[in-house]
Amino acid sequence: MSDVVLQSIVKRYDGALAVDHVSLAIKEGELVALLGPSGCGKTTTLRMIGGFIPVTEGRILVGGRDLTGLPPNKRNMGFGFQNYALFPHMSVGENVAFGLQMRKLPKAEIARKVQIALDRVKLAHLADRLPKQLSGGQQQRVALARALVIEPDVLLLDEPLSNLDAQLRNEMKLEIRAIQQQLGITTVFVTHDQDEALSVADRVVLMRAGRIEQQGAPDDLFGRPASRFAAEFMGVTNLLPGEVCGAGRFRLDGGEEVAVPMGAAGSDLSLALRPERVALGEPGEAGANSLPAVVEFVTYRGLVIDYRVRTTSGLTLIARRPSPALGGPAPLAAGQPVRASWLPEAGVLVPA
Ligand SMILES: Nc1ncnc2c1ncn2[C@@H]1O[C@H](COP(=O)(O)OP(=O)(O)O)[C@@H](O)[C@H]1O
Ligand SMILES: [Mg+2]
Repeated sequence: MSDVVLQSIVKRYDGALAVDHVSLAIKEGELVALLGPSGCGKTTTLRMIGGFIPVTEGRILVGGRDLTGLPPNKRNMGFGFQNYALFPHMSVGENVAFGLQMRKLPKAEIARKVQIALDRVKLAHLADRLPKQLSGGQQQRVALARALVIEPDVLLLDEPLSNLDAQLRNEMKLEIRAIQQQLGITTVFVTHDQDEALSVADRVVLMRAGRIEQQGAPDDLFGRPASRFAAEFMGVTNLLPGEVCGAGRFRLDGGEEVAVPMGAAGSDLSLALRPERVALGEPGEAGANSLPAVVEFVTYRGLVIDYRVRTTSGLTLIARRPSPALGGPAPLAAGQPVRASWLPEAGVLVPA
């Protein structure tokens, strides 16, 4: 097990920066999720850590050792990819044994380690099958066993769950996390899915256009996005532009003035407000912001109902309420007048 340090790594393709001076220190035993939209440089970063593509600039240290110029097989890292990349003509057991054979371990030792690795992912009973005789979830487990069997210092996973259906994805995600914690293995987990990142990671590193936009514990990113991009990516649907116009006061571009947390200053800001924090129809708690509005559009989503409302000044807000299935109030209809209200501390001001 080892810590991983990225020192200002850069990947340039024909003048375009795929990864733009990324610095990151990953602690021993930590699971870091690299999160971000397609094309932001997650895979490129991961593949540079693994040694599959050379860095243009910067250094990569593992356990204090500079690995920057070394090929993948000299880095002692385990890999798992979206497409599993299993050898189709080899059995499950042979697939898992492959890395150990390359290292020329004695036969008995290989058999013992393969057994342990397959037990760990609950596949020992399928050791003789071929990959094509397995489900997608089972194939992904084989890939995980194969990555772990070499006892790597670092585990690198690139969208390992994206070919699985929703339920399996959920199971595998918990299983990967459980195994990672049991082994205490330093892990970099690439995903474009914020839910996945939040639920597996010790730390989430949000990337944008080749750079780190924000990083922190899942709760930091979710609760305190530091930019409009981070807020949107973490699922905040209300981003209301405006400017601070006094201590704890914010003037929305539509003209309304609302109360916000104290301490922020400046113009060119957006008030980020989760739809779950916007109440509709009730008078609102004492001290809450409260704007008269009309329901414009209703989206039934099963457990919740989303309402798009328009305030009298023309501002659009999304409010989310529990549906009747969760014991929520009777649905509102389009055209209905309401009051949209929220507590000042529910909002976060971010640079627009
Ligand atoms: N071999 C390559 N040649 C040129 N550009 C590339 C190559 N690989 C990736 N890129 C570019 O680098 C950027 C980052 O890609 P990637 O790391 O795959 O993003 P992500 O994994 O976050 O979706 C993208 O703009 C992509 O088009
Ligand atoms: Mg990718």
